[in-house]
Amino acid sequence: MKAVHWLFLISLGLFVCGIGFVVAAARSARHASSVTVPVTTPVASVKQIMKGIVGPAATVIFKSVGATMTAQGVDEWAPKTDEEWEAVGNSAAAIVESGNLLMMGTRVLDRGDWIKMSQAMIEGGKEALKAVSAKSAEGVMASGEPINVSCDTCHERYRR
Ligand code: HEC
Repeated sequence: MKAVHWLFLISLGLFVCGIGFVVAAARSARHASSVTVPVTTPVASVKQIMKGIVGPAATVIFKSVGATMTAQGVDEWAPKTDEEWEAVGNSAAAIVESGNLLMMGTRVLDRGDWIKMSQAMIEGGKEALKAVSAKSAEGVMASGEPINVSCDTCHERYRR
C-alpha cells in the first residue's frame, strides 16, 4: 500500500511538471514568434537590381537638375514643387537601398572592392538625399559626381 501511495505521488508530480513544460513551451513559442524577424532570401540578380532599380533611379537624379544653352540664353531646371523634390528623394533612397541589396547573399562577389564600391554608391545616394532635404539643386547636382563615379568604377571592375 505504501509503495503504491509513493508511485501515485511521483506520477502526479511528473504530470504537473509536464503541464508546466507545455505551458512554458507555448509561452516561449509565442514570445519567439512576436520577436523573430523572418529570414530574408535574396531573389533578384544583380542585373535585375541594376536595370529595375539603380538605372531608373540614377536617371531621375541625373535629369532632375541641369541646364542647356539655347538661342534665348541659359535654360536651367531643378525640382520646384514638393512632389518633384520628393520624387528625387525617393530615387536617392532607392540608390542607397540598392547598395544594401548588393551586399546581401550571393550578390556579394567578394569581401573587398565589391563592398567598398557598393558603399561608395550608398554614400553618393546619401549625399543626394541630404541635398533633397535641404532642397538644394546645387547639392543634387554635386551628388551626381560621386554617384556616377561609383557606377563607372564598379562596372569597370566587375561588369562582364
Ligand atoms: C558594386 C558594383 C556596382 C555598382 C556600384 C553599380 N553597378 Fe551597375 N552593374 C554591376 C554589375 C556587376 C553589372 C552586370 C550585371 C550582369 O550583367 O549580370 C551591372 C549592370 C548594370 C546595368 C545593366 C547593363 C546591361 O544592360 O547589362 C545598368 C543599367 C547599371 N548597371 C546601372 C548602374 C548605375 C546607374 C549605377 C550607379 C548609380 C550602377 N550600375 C552601380 C555592378 C555595379
